Amino acid sequence: MSKHPNKPKPAGDSRLWGGRFQESTDAFVQQFTASEAIDRRLYAQDIQGSLAHATMLCRQGVLSDSELAQIKAGLQQIKADIEAGTFDWSPQREDVHMNIEAALTAKIGAAGKKLHTGRSRNDQVATDMRLWLREQIDQIGGELTRLQRHLIEQAEQHAATIMPGFTHLQPAQPVTFGHHLLAWNEMLQRDAERLRDCRARLNYSPLGAAALAGTPYPIDRQMTAQLLGFTAPTRNSLDSVSDRDFAIEFCACASLCLMHLSRMSEELILWASAQFRFVALPDRFCTGSSIMPQKKNPDVLELVRGKSGRTFGSLMALLTLMKSQPLAYNRDNQEDKEPLFDAADTMRDCLRAFADLVPAIAVDPATMRAAAKAGFSTATDLADYLVRKGLAFRDAHAAVGRAVAHGIEQGKDLADMSLAELQEFCPQIDPDVFAVLELDGSVAARNHPGGTAPDQVRQAAQAARQRLAD
Ligand code: ARG
Repeated sequence: MSKHPNKPKPAGDSRLWGGRFQESTDAFVQQFTASEAIDRRLYAQDIQGSLAHATMLCRQGVLSDSELAQIKAGLQQIKADIEAGTFDWSPQREDVHMNIEAALTAKIGAAGKKLHTGRSRNDQVATDMRLWLREQIDQIGGELTRLQRHLIEQAEQHAATIMPGFTHLQPAQPVTFGHHLLAWNEMLQRDAERLRDCRARLNYSPLGAAALAGTPYPIDRQMTAQLLGFTAPTRNSLDSVSDRDFAIEFCACASLCLMHLSRMSEELILWASAQFRFVALPDRFCTGSSIMPQKKNPDVLELVRGKSGRTFGSLMALLTLMKSQPLAYNRDNQEDKEPLFDAADTMRDCLRAFADLVPAIAVDPATMRAAAKAGFSTATDLADYLVRKGLAFRDAHAAVGRAVAHGIEQGKDLADMSLAELQEFCPQIDPDVFAVLELDGSVAARNHPGGTAPDQVRQAAQAARQRLAD
């Protein structure tokens, strides 16, 4: 008996690669290897890539004009079917690429079978992913800019609104609320720059790498790159089909941004609490409790804080997916989609929630001011004042420390003490001390670029707005 008995091929074999196989795929294996339910999300990019590939093949004389015309019409029809919900997706066809290719051949016959000339699913999926992520980055960038604009607007409105600045979550020195919001904007500005960088680095066309080594057909990689809006073709075919750095880099950008949003959420949650009452969140962004009638919970912010976890998870998943993979393409890479899709969705939704929320936050300047006053936050200003009167900073620090201890005991702030009371701790103190102990004087004194003085905040807001426009 021969080693490979010439068994008849399984009847009705729908596998586009079934030629060399003697038995049908195990039912569970088929289900296990299928990705169509997930990667169908790439249909538009898959069709876009196929159109560019076919156009190039025709220009190079590999396809006739009539074959190209049929392929174009067929793919457009398929796109319409998918968008109308009438496309017959099949897990038997494994993935989005073979679902579309099989449907094309079913529609137009012989010409459909020529589309895959000089191409592999390996360069195809790498192209689809880059096209998809590029679009996502553009949308996400739009939400990010919207959020930054709202932060800058609020910062301008609250350039002179005083709140306690914290270190260790203990009142440290007074700052302006506008300054705090612009600190958030700085974090987001770096996120926006990272995202732009990621986009520029991913914008190269893998098409033409084929399975791994390139293709003997007279392809024009420059042309497909240009048709798809890529900067240029990628430089190495092995790298082109195996590289998923762009997905990892995006997840790293998303993780940093979500980490920032999580910090911002945490601060807003604290500030909206009964213990702070610095801000009130709009009802439409909060939910109630089914048991405690008084509750108004900041669920949206809590969810943003919580969703950072899944984004960090996506980053870890992709790093681990790629670690130790030999060149070139391995099926492991099929697992790249869920983490990437999820990171993009999460980032976009969280930014959207924040961009909608920020302009609707109601600020309570009086409560913020009272909190700044209550925390002895001008103690450093008093120490600096004593240095100007000739004391060494350490001696000034000790004298003010004693004054603070006295204030805690008496339940009064430094500014509430009489001149005589203050002079007990340091005889060099004069009546001009009260200007220094005032919150407004304290913030106005930090009047240098990057400082919290209202004038600086206004200038910084203007510069931040200009950066957004550039
Ligand atoms: N569905 C596959 C993926 O997402 C497409 C590439 C498959 N290539 C292959 N040689 N099996 O990675």
